[in-house]
Amino acid sequence: NGSKDAKKADDSSKSGNITVGFSQVGAESDWRTANSTSMKETFSEENGYTLIFDDAQQKQENQIKAIRNFIQQEVDYIVLAPVTETGWDTVLKEAKDAGIPVIIVDRMVKVSDDSLYTAWVGSNFELEGKKAAAWLKAYLDATGRGNEKINIVDIQGTIGASAQIGRTKGLEAACKENKNWTLLAKETGEFTQAKGQEVMESLLKKHGDDIDVVYCENDNEAFGAIDAITAAGKKVGTGKDDILVMSFDSTKTGLTDVKDGKIILDTECNPLHGPRVEEIIKSLEAGKEPDKKQYVDEEVFAAVKDVAKISADGKDYDVTVVTDDVIS
Ligand code: AHR
Repeated sequence: NGSKDAKKADDSSKSGNITVGFSQVGAESDWRTANSTSMKETFSEENGYTLIFDDAQQKQENQIKAIRNFIQQEVDYIVLAPVTETGWDTVLKEAKDAGIPVIIVDRMVKVSDDSLYTAWVGSNFELEGKKAAAWLKAYLDATGRGNEKINIVDIQGTIGASAQIGRTKGLEAACKENKNWTLLAKETGEFTQAKGQEVMESLLKKHGDDIDVVYCENDNEAFGAIDAITAAGKKVGTGKDDILVMSFDSTKTGLTDVKDGKIILDTECNPLHGPRVEEIIKSLEAGKEPDKKQYVDEEVFAAVKDVAKISADGKDYDVTVVTDDVIS
């Protein structure tokens, strides 16, 4: 349907709309769905935009194809939510040569020349990982388990995605610092519920009763892991004999599981990037130079009251205990 899309871009320039080509990672998680909705609601016809939305199904080659199509259609802006950090130099150079500004959203790109993109907005994923690990340490200390041997498994996100790299790094650094913590295994759950469940099933087979903490790198993996743990006749929860499930995103279902004590900590990753990207486009339209990198402020949500504050990267963060009011 290339020619149909090309016609769309053509029509929009006639109508005076700003045309935005958005290459989305996929639809792997609830977070991603919320992110796509935010983009679609912001870049609507009634707001003065024509959005060409492309779902890459978690494949970089599809994203590269989509960007090339956007260039051909002469869109006004390209927005890219990259699946992984590397491998973008060539196609971003093509966009630059075509004079189309590229805005990166959510995960980062690692390129040899930063002028290949105009601006980036998203999360500080390593800080998220550090916050989660700092909370775990404080929680174990507060509940008298600070010196116990703690075995952790990491269900990682898509390997090579900033969200995976940062969150894994945060945990690994804490495991090095806390000599009584052992990272028993790390394996990708691809940020999906199905894979999260499959990986947890195999980790339970391998490590049986040894697992104290499951560090899931997003909510959907946590949902799958919880199903696997329960099906194996074990218990998730907040007690000494329970498996502690940690997660990232803080989606509505994730926070409901926190309120119910199934997920003990959910570190926020905010998906509502539509208005943030629009802010960048508006400033470019006004001839201004937006900040090259913009990090979103994010919170930490816990099932228990034991830890009120944590500290990461020299900054203090309040820990919110999840109640019905927090979810609604
Ligand atoms: O890049 C953000 C991550 O990607 C979210 O944590 C996850 O849910 C999504 O798929």
